[in-house]
Amino acid sequence: MHAYLLEFGNLLLRWLHVIAAIAWIGESIYFVMLDNSLRPPQRSAAKQRGVFGEMWAVHGGGFYHNQKYLTNPAELPDDLHWSYWKAYSTWLSGFALFAILYLRKPDVYLTNPSSPWAWAAALEPWQAAAAAVIFLLAGWVIYDQLCRRISPTMERDGLLSAAVGVMMVFVAYLSVQMFQGRAAFLLTGAVMATCMSANVLFWIIPGQRRMVAALKANVPPDPLDGMRGKQRSVHNTYFTLPVVFLMLSNHYSFTFTSPHAWIILSLFIFAGAAIRQYFVLRHLGKNQLAYPAVGVALLLVIAWLGAPARTMAPTASLASPSGTAGMQQVQAIIEARCVQCHAAKPTQPGFVSAPLGVVLETTDQIALHGAKIKETVASNYMPLGNLTGMTNAERATITNWSIPH
Ligand code: HEC
Repeated sequence: MHAYLLEFGNLLLRWLHVIAAIAWIGESIYFVMLDNSLRPPQRSAAKQRGVFGEMWAVHGGGFYHNQKYLTNPAELPDDLHWSYWKAYSTWLSGFALFAILYLRKPDVYLTNPSSPWAWAAALEPWQAAAAAVIFLLAGWVIYDQLCRRISPTMERDGLLSAAVGVMMVFVAYLSVQMFQGRAAFLLTGAVMATCMSANVLFWIIPGQRRMVAALKANVPPDPLDGMRGKQRSVHNTYFTLPVVFLMLSNHYSFTFTSPHAWIILSLFIFAGAAIRQYFVLRHLGKNQLAYPAVGVALLLVIAWLGAPARTMAPTASLASPSGTAGMQQVQAIIEARCVQCHAAKPTQPGFVSAPLGVVLETTDQIALHGAKIKETVASNYMPLGNLTGMTNAERATITNWSIPH
C-alpha cells in the first residue's frame, strides 16, 4: 500500500511537473519571440510616451498590441503581471519527483558500481544520494560564479557563453562517471534547470523588483539590473531545449548506456542550443539555416555514436559461452535476475507493478521482449543497478542468445 501511494504521488507530481514546465518554457519562448519581434513604434504619440518597440498579433479571436518600455514608462499600474511561479513550481515539483524516485532508492537508481573511478563505484547508497544533491547545488554555485567573474557588467557575454558550454561538458563527464547513466543524464538536465530557476529567483526577479521600486520612488533605475536580467534570461533560453531532451532521455536507454554517453550528452546540449539559436534569430527576421544544419549534424553524430553495434561491443567480448543458449537457459537467468521486478506482482520492495509493463514470467513474454532484453542486458542497464547480482557469464549468455521467432 505504501509503495502504491508513492507510485500515485509520483504520477501526480509528474503531471504537475510537465504542466508547470510547459507553462514556464512556453511563456519564456513567447517573451523571447515578443522581444525579438518588436518594431519601432509607428505613431508619434507612442514615441513621445517613450515606447521602445511594439508588436501587433492576432490570436484567439482578437488583436493584441504589445508595447515595450525599457525602464521609463510614464505610469506603472499596481497590477503588474509578474512571471515567477511557473519557474518555481517547475523546480519544486521536479525536485520532489527526483526525491521520491532517485533519493529514496539510491541503490536502484543512483549508484554506479561499474564506474571506472574506484571511489565512485564504492559510494554507499546514502553517499550517492548526498552527492546528487551536492551536484545540483555546486552546479548553480559554479555557474553563478562564472557569470559574476567573467561578465559582471555584461561586456564579455560571448566569453561567458563559451565558459558555460565548457562547464556543461564537464558536468556531463563527471555525472556519467559518478552516477548510473539514467541518473547522470537527468542530473545534468537538473543542473541546468536549477540554474534556470535560480536565475529567476536570485537575479531576474530581485532586479525587476529594484527597478519597479526605483520607478515608484522617481529615481532612475540601475541599468545593470535590466542588463543582468537579460543576460540570465538569454542563458535560460538556450538551456530550454537541452533540458527537455535530458528529461526525456530516461525513455531512451541507448543514449545513457552507451560507452560514449558523456559525449552524446554534451552533443545533445549543443544541438539543442544551436536549434534554439535558429528560432531566436528567426524572430529577429533572420533566416540563418547554418544553426539548424549544425544541430542536425550533431544529431547525426549522436545517432552514429549510439548505434547498437557500437553500444554492444564492450560486453559482447565477455567470456562468451560456446554456442548459443536455448530459451530454457535464458529463462533460468531471467527467473534468477529479472522477475523480482519484471513480474505482474513484483517481489522487489518498492515496485508495485512491472516497470514499463515489461513482464518476463513466461517464455512467450521473454520472446516478445527479446530484442529489448538483449539490448538492455548488453549495455549493463539491466538489471537496474545490478541489484540482483547478474554475473558476466550470464550477461554474455543473454547477449549472444538468438531470439526464437
Ligand atoms: C530492480 C528492479 C529491476 C530489475 C531486477 C530488472 N529491471 Fe528491467 N526495468 C526496471 C525498471 C524500473 C525499468 C524502467 C526504466 C524506465 O522507466 O525507463 C526497467 C525496464 C526494462 C526494460 C524496458 C526498457 C525500455 O527502454 O523499454 C527491459 C527490456 C528490461 N527492463 C529488462 C530487464 C531484464 C532482462 C532484467 C534481468 C536481466 C531486468 N530488466 C531486471 C527495473 C528492473
